[in-house]
Amino acid sequence: MADPKRRTVTAALPYANGPIHIGHLAGVYIPADIYVRYWRNKKRDVLFICGSDEHGVAITIKAKKAGQTPQEVVDTYHASIQASLADFGISFDHYTRTSAPIHRQTASDFFSNLYEKGVFKTKTSKQYFDEEAQQFLADRYIVGTCPHCGSAHAYGDQCENCGSSLSPEELINPRSALSGATPVRKTTQHHYLPLERYADWLRKWVLEEHADWKTNVSAQVKSWLDTGLKPRAVTRDLDWGIPVPLPGLENKVLYVWFEAPIGYISATKEWAKKTGRDWTPYWCDTDTELTHFLAKDNIVFHCIIFPSMLKAHGGFILPAQVPANEFLTLENQKISTSKNWAVWLPDYLRDFPGQRDALRYALTANMPETKDNNFSWKDFQTKNNAELVGILGNFINRVVALTHQYCRGIAPGVTSRFSELDRLKLLPKEIGGFIERFEFRNALRSFMELPRMGNAFLQEQEPWKKIKTQPEAVEDSIYVALQIAAAIAYLSEPFLPHTAEKLKDILHLKALSWDEVAAADLIPKGRPIDKAQLLFRKITVSEIDAQMEKLMGTQRENTTTPLRAER
Ligand code: MF3
Ligand code: ZN
Repeated sequence: MADPKRRTVTAALPYANGPIHIGHLAGVYIPADIYVRYWRNKKRDVLFICGSDEHGVAITIKAKKAGQTPQEVVDTYHASIQASLADFGISFDHYTRTSAPIHRQTASDFFSNLYEKGVFKTKTSKQYFDEEAQQFLADRYIVGTCPHCGSAHAYGDQCENCGSSLSPEELINPRSALSGATPVRKTTQHHYLPLERYADWLRKWVLEEHADWKTNVSAQVKSWLDTGLKPRAVTRDLDWGIPVPLPGLENKVLYVWFEAPIGYISATKEWAKKTGRDWTPYWCDTDTELTHFLAKDNIVFHCIIFPSMLKAHGGFILPAQVPANEFLTLENQKISTSKNWAVWLPDYLRDFPGQRDALRYALTANMPETKDNNFSWKDFQTKNNAELVGILGNFINRVVALTHQYCRGIAPGVTSRFSELDRLKLLPKEIGGFIERFEFRNALRSFMELPRMGNAFLQEQEPWKKIKTQPEAVEDSIYVALQIAAAIAYLSEPFLPHTAEKLKDILHLKALSWDEVAAADLIPKGRPIDKAQLLFRKITVSEIDAQMEKLMGTQRENTTTPLRAER
């Protein structure tokens, strides 16, 4: 689509079973936020929605272990996640939760719509049932001995000791994690979405009509299609979730991966209600471009299952882009909630107050766009100290100080032409092009050309040496440097929103659209310039050591105690 009338942008709904960590930010929320901030700067109609994913087995397990109800768990983490994302400046138009009544209704209606169209197949199968607890057991609720390595603590879906994926029937001596009882096999009936019927359409839709999707995305879709799609149960025997809206089946719930993506639609409805707008164009008009941001473990759900649901329904648009990222590792190890191997955002915010943009910067520079990428504390320190403090902060301080030293804090005019000013006019388009193609690392690198160019320019002009002999040359250099500083203020907004805000204050900048930045005289002669404010601060060796020490402690704990069973 060349220039759609509006954009609906979604970020995967985080599970409300724990706080949020840097992997979530780098993989999903930062790229999505850069993208929507950019389009808002371009004055385009863009709606950015998200919310907490509050159902599913992971949450009931977490609750059991914490001695809480699932509702208490989701209430805690919904609040925590929402606050962390807001702190980092992730600029949702609306953040909802899947326990919201509007979502229960929307998801139920979606299910009923497909049911009435006769889309589902029903199938009976035997599943493990706990007679003491009187309930069917989700795979994670069955423990037993691993048939591959003999570990006595394998789960019905996976052995965490040897890593093999399992089905519950393979476990030796299965026991219920709820009561310890030996489960019995009992017949149950479920509704299935017959994915195999959509395989030919999906192949054409993804691999031909969307040949422009990222290769990590299309390769994964192709591999699922080549393996062959099977019917997927969309109802579950669980007592936590959205009841199946069919008589006699009220004790079953909708599969979490069936209802959660519908949460994007529910969130839009809730937003519309709150703002007095109409939600339907954002989901039903073909001149709306729908983009889903997510990480690679979510590809199958957003590129195969949800599109099949949308296609079966027929009343909604399909995604135009699914720019999924790979994973971020931490100190070269897989980030893991159960192993506590993560940098949790509430911890970062406590340990590095006022330094949210430093993390946004480091995570964008290392974004796992095409392959897994690593976050290390050492590299974080270098990026902050050498690039944000040393290049960007340094340039701003220099130009502000020079303006005060030589021009009494008032922007001067200019008398000659400078190639830097021509270059500056090309950058909005260049940076924007990268963002539009989901190349956020390149976009950030291209943006950093501004402060690099600014520093080189001042170094070459040396206004401090010319003040006696060529005062007009000094004014020229300060003029050019101020234009660069202003461009930094405007064009940093998608990446470093908190810094952009401060810069706009210092330079007294008026609001301009992204495209106007290329055209305008950004700081005209006579504009007063404030004194510098602290934009970034150096991160010390001891701060980094403290973070590493914390991780080492986690490492020691993990090697001496068995894994906490939770994902
Ligand atoms: N909660 C899921 C996860 O964290 C993502 C859900 S995305 C949605 O992996 F589309 F289902 F909403
Ligand atoms: Zn094993």
